[in-house]
Amino acid sequence: MKDKKCIGILGGGQLARMSAYQAFKLGFEVAILEKEGNSPAGQLTKNEFIGWVNNKNILEMFTNKSDVVTLENEFIDSTKLHYIETLGKKVIPSPKTISLIQDKYVQKKTLERNGIPIPKFVSYDYEDSYNDVSLILGKKFVLKSRKMGYDGYGNALVRNADSFQKGLEKLVSRNSSLYAEEFIDFKMELAIMIVRTKKEIKTYPIVQTIQQDHICKTVIAPAPISNKLVKLSEEIAVSAVESVKGFGIFGIEMFLTQDERVLLNEMAPRPHNSGHFTIEACITSQFENHIRAVLDLPLGSTAMLRPHAVMINLLGKRNGEGTIQNYNKALIDGEVHLHIYGKEKSRIGRKMGHLTLLGDNVNSILARAAQIEKQIIF
Ligand SMILES: Nc1ncnc2c1ncn2[C@@H]1O[C@H](COP(=O)(O)OP(=O)(O)OP(=O)(O)O)[C@@H](O)[C@H]1O
Ligand SMILES: [Mg+2]
Repeated sequence: MKDKKCIGILGGGQLARMSAYQAFKLGFEVAILEKEGNSPAGQLTKNEFIGWVNNKNILEMFTNKSDVVTLENEFIDSTKLHYIETLGKKVIPSPKTISLIQDKYVQKKTLERNGIPIPKFVSYDYEDSYNDVSLILGKKFVLKSRKMGYDGYGNALVRNADSFQKGLEKLVSRNSSLYAEEFIDFKMELAIMIVRTKKEIKTYPIVQTIQQDHICKTVIAPAPISNKLVKLSEEIAVSAVESVKGFGIFGIEMFLTQDERVLLNEMAPRPHNSGHFTIEACITSQFENHIRAVLDLPLGSTAMLRPHAVMINLLGKRNGEGTIQNYNKALIDGEVHLHIYGKEKSRIGRKMGHLTLLGDNVNSILARAAQIEKQIIF
């Protein structure tokens, strides 16, 4: 085998881009498969394959270039992942793990079977009325697409028969089966990154995530919760990864309820938005440990370098060019870590970049980060 290993990444968005930086840092190559050229990750490498997994030719060329294949989103038909394995290349996380996660209903069933605390949920087959579902889940619940949901696009909050009807209309166009889940009046949302190889498992500091309109906006590390809750959340997240026989990196989202229970919301078999703070805040970032795990190398320390970190997502504020309009204002604070993903087009609410600040006082870095975010124009 050649010395300079090439990591194939299915998908060329910001998660692949930030993974690619870390692969280069360690002296590896990357290959990117994405539907359109000049993607955020494709811009970084000459090994950009344009097409998708259903194009056998392109998939084979991409696979031949790669020594190992990983992915940046879980919505890839697992038969295609199996096909990559028949070409002699390992896929991490495994196609089996992906197939237990990509359908949220199957994911919830798997977690339930393994005794992991989750919100109450039921399958939904378009026959049941609002009353049928609310008898089981209560008046307020969430309808969710089983597949392809992200940034809240696959969810609809239901409070009554009217919003139930509207939710169905919104979600039916997404062409995915649905399930329904009890509404959790959470005290806080939590998330944790876990990285696992055959020899090691490491957890990152647990964080608080704050979503606006179902999209993650702010991450605070570490989460302001007791050590007892940290321990409980870590145990739940580790069991969840084990329950899907997961190897590689995983982002786990959880709800902390008003009565201090921790319920798992969802898991992702890849680097995750809630772990972006680790790039500057931890000894080894989620992206570097992802690359290490994929190559079965020793994992790096996940400890934080400073007591606190805050990450704010830069979401598109208009529909137009993807380049930032005012770098002078964005970089006015000499301690800000600014990340711009290189997307050609901005759209309202689209993740265009993020910024991170580290410090000793969480309120002060939160205020500074919010101030900078307000001034950035996409
Ligand atoms: N059962 C629930 N009760 C209360 N709020 C919920 C529930 N499910 C989801 N939410 C809210 O909606 C947000 C997005 O939901 P979820 O994580 O299921 O969707 P997603 O589209 O996969 O999100 P993302 O891609 O941002 O992780 C959650 O972070 C939470 O704020
Ligand atoms: Mg989520």
